[in-house]
Amino acid sequence: MIQSEIFNIPKEKSSLVGVVSGSSRNADCPVASPRPFLKWVGGKTQLLEQFAQLYPQQLKERKIDKYFELFLGAGAVFFDVIQKYPIDKVFLNDINQDLILSYRVIQNNADNLIESLFDLQQNYHQSDKERRQQIFYQIRQNYNQQRINFDYSQISSESIKRVAWLIFLNKTCFNGLYRTNQKGDFNVPCGRYKNPNICNQSNILAVSKVLQQVTLQSGDYSSLDKFIDNRSFVYIDPPYRPIKKTSSFTTYAKSGFSDRNQIELSKYYQHLSKNYHAKVMLSNSNPHNTDIEDDFFHNLYQEYKITEVYAHRMVNSDASKRGKITELVITNY
Ligand SMILES: C[S@@+](CC[C@H](N)C(=O)[O-])C[C@H]1O[C@@H](n2cnc3c(N)ncnc32)[C@H](O)[C@@H]1O
Repeated sequence: MIQSEIFNIPKEKSSLVGVVSGSSRNADCPVASPRPFLKWVGGKTQLLEQFAQLYPQQLKERKIDKYFELFLGAGAVFFDVIQKYPIDKVFLNDINQDLILSYRVIQNNADNLIESLFDLQQNYHQSDKERRQQIFYQIRQNYNQQRINFDYSQISSESIKRVAWLIFLNKTCFNGLYRTNQKGDFNVPCGRYKNPNICNQSNILAVSKVLQQVTLQSGDYSSLDKFIDNRSFVYIDPPYRPIKKTSSFTTYAKSGFSDRNQIELSKYYQHLSKNYHAKVMLSNSNPHNTDIEDDFFHNLYQEYKITEVYAHRMVNSDASKRGKITELVITNY
């Protein structure tokens, strides 16, 4: 069963609006532009310039006042939209409970999180290669053990510890991946970054600030349905349909995301368009990159506008055979 929880924190509870309090480390911290604080498979940072051309015109005309992201991940598009356009209400969702927990802790407890990350960073940076590996595998073990019976419904010192571990693992693991096995255990090995930026204080503070009025939810993509209306912009970035049979990029969550899930999602896209008249933008891999006859998405979304954008990821692991590939952006406007 998917657990859905809505957390809407009133602004007064935040200590992070304006001057930051609670930690001497934060006192003179410069204000940064908020950007993804995690590296996530399928992150859209590289595509933002092309995406911006495809946002609905109504955003600029202030005819849209709600923004939804249903498969949040690292949230690159959210950070872009929120900084460019005046949006009254933001709703963010992802099925990954640990991911949403990290946004919630940054929303409510950024100061404490920074303290924990600062300590982890100091310890890691001061250690030699061998000790770094020991630290990494110890934290990975702690993180996986803590998941058993973990209470995601409220924020406690355990949540802050967990999110600090999650960010630490993301910054120090091989390739900055987030990957879990069938059991749900994080299983990426130790990476070899020389000076990983484990405690990016200014970004965490900036992210915390933009999250103050945001509703965060961990559930299936349809769980924000009741909030969507004709003044909403909805961005949908499901796990990629694999462009090669061997690609494992579709298994983000324990359940994975099959072609059947993609078909169901296309029906949900129709529902948002036809029943709610929301502006909807969806991105996915382009099957034409590897098979020109594979019209999977063109058939599913034949009523809508399909634009190709250039992606920076590669189809072929052999560098000499790599070419430019495209992704699809499907809009109902
Ligand atoms: C492509 S990633 C999102 C990338 C993100 N937009 C970015 O820029 O980093 C897909 C996300 O979908 C989430 N996900 C998978 N199945 C889901 C479902 N049924 N409902 C909601 N989220 C889901 C995964 O946890 C993952 O974080």
